[in-house]
Amino acid sequence: MIQKNLKILFVLLGLAVSNLAIAGEGMWLPLLLQSLNEAEMKSMGMKMSAEDIYSINKGSLKDAIVHFNGGCTSEIISGRGLLLTNHHCGYSQIQSHSSLENNYLRDGFWAKSLKDELVNNNLSATFIQRIEDVSKDILKGVTDAMNDKDRQSLIDQNMEKFKLTVKKEAYEDIVIRPFYKGNQYFMFVTLTYRDVRLVGAPPESVGKFGSDTDNWVWPRHTGDFSIFRIYADKNNLPAEYAEDNVPYTPKHFLPISLDGVEEGDFTMVFGFPGRTNQYLPSYAVSQIVDVLNPAKIGIRDRALKIVDAEMRADPQVKIQYASKFASIANYWKKWIGESQGLKSTNALDKKHQFEKEFMAKVNANAQWKDQYAYLLPEFKKLYAEIEPYALTRDYFNETAFRNIELLRVVNFMNNLVTRFDNNGETGYNDYKARLQSYLKGFYKNYRANIDQKVASDLLGLFDEKVPIDIIRQPLKEAVALSGTKSLEDFTRDMYKRSNFTTYDKVLALFEKSPKEAVAAIKADPAFKFGTKMMTVYDNEVGKKYNAINSKISTLQRLYMKAIIEVFPDKRFYPDANGTMRVSYGKVASYEPKDAVKYLTKTYLSGVMDKYVPGDYEFDVPEKLRTLYQQKDYGPYADKNGKMPVCFIGSNHTTGGNSGSPAIDAHGNLIGLNFDRVWEGTMSDINYDASICRNIMVDVRYILFFIDKYAGADYLIKEMKLVHPKKK
Ligand code: ARG
Ligand code: ASP
Repeated sequence: MIQKNLKILFVLLGLAVSNLAIAGEGMWLPLLLQSLNEAEMKSMGMKMSAEDIYSINKGSLKDAIVHFNGGCTSEIISGRGLLLTNHHCGYSQIQSHSSLENNYLRDGFWAKSLKDELVNNNLSATFIQRIEDVSKDILKGVTDAMNDKDRQSLIDQNMEKFKLTVKKEAYEDIVIRPFYKGNQYFMFVTLTYRDVRLVGAPPESVGKFGSDTDNWVWPRHTGDFSIFRIYADKNNLPAEYAEDNVPYTPKHFLPISLDGVEEGDFTMVFGFPGRTNQYLPSYAVSQIVDVLNPAKIGIRDRALKIVDAEMRADPQVKIQYASKFASIANYWKKWIGESQGLKSTNALDKKHQFEKEFMAKVNANAQWKDQYAYLLPEFKKLYAEIEPYALTRDYFNETAFRNIELLRVVNFMNNLVTRFDNNGETGYNDYKARLQSYLKGFYKNYRANIDQKVASDLLGLFDEKVPIDIIRQPLKEAVALSGTKSLEDFTRDMYKRSNFTTYDKVLALFEKSPKEAVAAIKADPAFKFGTKMMTVYDNEVGKKYNAINSKISTLQRLYMKAIIEVFPDKRFYPDANGTMRVSYGKVASYEPKDAVKYLTKTYLSGVMDKYVPGDYEFDVPEKLRTLYQQKDYGPYADKNGKMPVCFIGSNHTTGGNSGSPAIDAHGNLIGLNFDRVWEGTMSDINYDASICRNIMVDVRYILFFIDKYAGADYLIKEMKLVHPKKK
């Protein structure tokens, strides 16, 4: 049915095209581009056809787009399987090869030849072979009258049956995912390579330049890239690592444009966006803005403040906590921008307006009225009902697991105990081996005294703010039982007595027999408190949250179906769900606030403006300073003679789009997506073309760096450099 509506829209496309306010919004399915987007894309300057982007009959752009370890995106840029992604996407691989002698994070790394490329454990690169709409098969027999459980179990059965009928090679996999909130299903036949080696990375002072201060910020000056290579067996098929594996020969790789970008140029971002929520009712959006985001921001404010002070006081702590701090700060900063953007663009008013139109249409049609008029009032009721549970859930997750690390260890220990209780010593030993190797890394970057401060502060906040009273009980009881007078004393006492505060203590625990170890774990004060809290949470909050949330999901599915039906002339794209999508827009400036306009491109001179010698965020390597002074930019400079670094566009992106290629009108690589502008991070909930921009590294900065800085011109020779604008 969506298909049919889309067809109608295609007819109306002349109208959509002229309405350029919406250009940029949407994460589209590659196989539907021809019917939905091609005309608009061409009107915006695209010179390719939809078939050049996604084809199952010939090599097309999609064959160069690779899901990087299931999280980020990457792309093939040479005929020998060279893979480009972000520095922050390859970070843990780069880190894993780093040591004090070979500090690749600090100094960068460049393989001098194929045999120097570094082998990675557990790194995957997944191609999409083809995509099919399988809604008919998966939803066979499903009716609106079914309850959720029956519906889901029929869908699961249909999927299993259907998978058996799909023609595929033994080395291919099948992934089937719900779209439009479960109103449609698409199948992805995938091909995953597992021998993916590290080829090169710039030093952090380039790849992470500006770090947390500049994260989510424009103007930006980060060379956020790293390079890998996919290896295959003799038949070009996936194989586990073997010395005689050979570079993968792709069906397609992206040529690279040396011609740069100008405001207004067509751009397209092709990748694997993770999650968006564009079709929430106004009640959900106001809950995010007024209740949930402020709570999460508030918790992280406090945790970050404590950790920041410790990092400033001790350089060793700074190294140990840098990565943890960055990941806590990343979404903290994103939520602040998101809330502000939702307010500044009046997202709620727009939602209200949309809902008003929806209700007017629904009420004017007897059948729709019957089917759909209850949806919004029901949302209102359910969101009011879920609010205290959702808020408690956020407080609990952010406090217990995200920011108090001791409680995270408790959770693992609890799993270990459960394995023992359910599967005896085998279950225990199995899990212990994995846990021990994880904890070894964990404790390297753990300071119990810092965690204790965070715990004392956050438990206080939790106690003060959490809206469901009974969830406070475990803390009250534990404090009383310990005989301490304040939260500070209580946490000090708990950290002193717990055996989970150092790796040595945990090892000593693990040396005991499984039975003795389990007894000791169960007697641990942190374990007693933590598991009590989890049990009360599960029973009093988790279960209720899940029950209401499942009703909301059902409603959301019906609402999605309804709006598609009620607004046949509007184009709806499915929310991101980690599957392959195309976004397109233009290189575009924006005005974040009154009297301020942000231009589209940054230059190396801007890097130098931000340079703070020796700073952990804004240092600039000497060689880069020299190249800048000598203006030794080779063929990579912009028309004005300056070295370009980053640029922005109106492409709709989200987490998971990191490492996605920015592609020009002809299908050439022009940039590497890695972030969004702060004012526009609300694009996950309500994209607004006036301030939503994605940030890309200019590919010429990457080439300049590889060639002039790293001296790895043999890599450049593998690539295909083109001049599309000089044709
Ligand atoms: N904000 C970007 C994204 O969400 C980049 C994050 C990595 N960089 C950082 N400084 N934490 O993933
Ligand atoms: N930085 C994000 C990523 O890593 C991209 C974004 O959220 O814009 O995927």
